[in-house]
Amino acid sequence: MTIFDKFKLDNQVAIVTGGATGLGKAMAEGLAQAGTNLVIADINLDTAQSTAQYFTETTQNEAIACQVDVTSASDVAKMIDVVMEKFGRIDILFNNAGINEHVKFEDMPYERWLKNMDVNINSMVLVSQAVGKIMIEQQKGSIINTSSMSGLIVNTPQPQAAYNTSKGAVIMFTKSLANEWAKHGIRVNTIAPGYMKTELTKDYFAQGGEMIDTWMKFTPLGRPGTPDELQGPALFLASDASSFVTGSVLTIDGGYTVYKFCDSRDCDEILMITIAFSLAL
Ligand SMILES: NC(=O)c1ccc[n+]([C@@H]2O[C@H](COP(=O)([O-])OP(=O)(O)OC[C@H]3O[C@@H](n4cnc5c(N)ncnc54)[C@H](O)[C@@H]3O)[C@@H](O)[C@H]2O)c1
Repeated sequence: MTIFDKFKLDNQVAIVTGGATGLGKAMAEGLAQAGTNLVIADINLDTAQSTAQYFTETTQNEAIACQVDVTSASDVAKMIDVVMEKFGRIDILFNNAGINEHVKFEDMPYERWLKNMDVNINSMVLVSQAVGKIMIEQQKGSIINTSSMSGLIVNTPQPQAAYNTSKGAVIMFTKSLANEWAKHGIRVNTIAPGYMKTELTKDYFAQGGEMIDTWMKFTPLGRPGTPDELQGPALFLASDASSFVTGSVLTIDGGYTVYKFCDSRDCDEILMITIAFSLAL
């Protein structure tokens, strides 16, 4: 077997939540191109159906759409029934559905806080438990959870305490499951994307201003990522190419967290250098 063979996902079955659009769609496309059958699990049925149809038409594999609110245990149970009847197995689970709101913490209604937690982390509990039972029977599986660099550092200047908290929880959830399920042949990892241009963020980029300037100033690559730039990392974690990788956080952020992980003195120096450099230009 060559290293290229290890990246192949022929005849495997992957569920991608929030896979109808944005990062989920792009990562699902990478998996489809590597040979996997796909379940596009999304709250938005119309978009999920057109995405599934697009994958079926453009790859050798089958893709189906499932309307699922990932915060609903009954929706998740129905999805599992449909997938098992159709494909009879689940090899890859991509817990990717997520929401983001910029609200000052003092103004955040408690119900909105809970909504953020429900979609961004509690949904992963529901879906992973349901799919995990099947993977445990199979003694095989790869689970990938979409966190964010906001699970590692506090982004600025936008106020998003709920988002940061939920994405931090995704990382500890991932490590905990990796520990519990390694003995069943199930690997569990997380990706932590930086600023990417998608439906979730396109209005922010279109508006520009201080927030976007700050984001880009601290991104060494100097630009937002594009959804297709997550395909390589997603395929790596889904496939046997990462067979010894579990409980890990793969950060894909154009370098943003290199600044934020340094100690405060270093950060001040970097800020001074950045300002001096900008002035010189
Ligand atoms: N865009 C970024 O810059 C960025 C950066 C880091 C992490 N992320 C994370 O990546 C993931 C995808 O983000 P995106 O930018 O593609 O967002 P997006 O809004 O473009 O897509 C999110 C998808 O999730 C679906 N969804 C939302 N709530 C759902 C629910 N309750 N049940 C089922 N599906 C639901 C939506 O219908 C949509 O198809 C999220 O978890 C997000 O937090 C995004």
